[in-house]
Amino acid sequence: MKILVTGGAGYIGSHTLIELLEAGYEPVVIDDYSNSEPSSLERVREIAGGIWEIIEGDVCDYDTVKDIFDRHEVGAVIHFAGFKAVGESVEKPLMYYRNNLGATMNLIRVMNEAGVGRMIFSSSATVYGMNNQVPFDETMPVSCTNPYGRTKLMSEQILKDAAAADGNFRPVILRYFNPAGAHTSGLIGENPRGIPNNLMPYIQQVASGRREKLTVYGNDYDTPDGTGVRDYIHVVDLAKGHLKALEWSLESCGEGGEVFNLGTGRGTSVLQLLTAFERVNEVPVPYVIGSRRAGDIATCYADASKAEKVLGWKAEKNIEDMCRDAWRWETNKARWETNRGVQR
Ligand code: UFG
Repeated sequence: MKILVTGGAGYIGSHTLIELLEAGYEPVVIDDYSNSEPSSLERVREIAGGIWEIIEGDVCDYDTVKDIFDRHEVGAVIHFAGFKAVGESVEKPLMYYRNNLGATMNLIRVMNEAGVGRMIFSSSATVYGMNNQVPFDETMPVSCTNPYGRTKLMSEQILKDAAAADGNFRPVILRYFNPAGAHTSGLIGENPRGIPNNLMPYIQQVASGRREKLTVYGNDYDTPDGTGVRDYIHVVDLAKGHLKALEWSLESCGEGGEVFNLGTGRGTSVLQLLTAFERVNEVPVPYVIGSRRAGDIATCYADASKAEKVLGWKAEKNIEDMCRDAWRWETNKARWETNRGVQR
């Protein structure tokens, strides 16, 4: 079956392609490479083989997406494409609303015209906002503090409204916690442009000497060691969660669609992650304690029981696996870039 994967060259998209290919699906990818590179798709092919079409294009563009559905018998869509930097979204909110909401609405429109009713959508634990108690479960009230988060929240609402109006449209919304790590082959992983926003890629770049030290954003939170606690989930586990969600959506999803957390249910602090990285990889990660980052909450982790019960999916890898795999990818990437003479 052909699966349209938007944003397939990105961090989570590329890992999910591998799972799809290994399960025998035929992915068709659309990506504009605004935050990714075509080479990640070449490396996906190296790992998992397979033949699929790659379209360089914008998911917001009706004609581009329509053309894909005209030429391929698409069975379902996995929609990753979207901007995801919180800080940038505060500076350029309209760019975020136009791109993230425009892509979701355009896809729903074309899917509706083509009679395709299954979509897996990338949402985020950010929708649990500042006021819920951990562990976060899917029934809790949602709210957001920044435009990026609001694009996720609004997309969820748009999907639910579209599902209420059309019984054939049954979206599965996946709320990711904190993806980390890389494929065990060391061939694909996260490749942020510029200064990383997220903790794990920042730790990787400090360990490799590319950045001098990590600033820990606050050590006065109400957590065991005072630093922020998050639910880090291995990107390969996350990718496998997409496969489970896809299969469930094709076979069992009822009218209206469904929402699932994809997390491990375990919290890890900034300093725990940092020391695990140092221990597992035998590499120092210098750090300083800085002030809190605006908008951060003390603790965020999932109640992941719904995904286990309904989808039969459970995260299997641990923090050590994430640290090991992230470092393998980081060192490989540094070597390739040096060989290619890339300026960093
Ligand atoms: N942190 C640091 N120093 C850094 C970067 C992060 O101390 O240089 C800390 C943060 O304060 C936080 C933890 O590391 O306590 C994780 O921060 P990330 O930026 O990696 O992740 P967030 O939990 O803030 O945000 C992530 C995604 C969002 C998503 C959210 C959902 O980046 O897109 O998870 O919970 F919305």
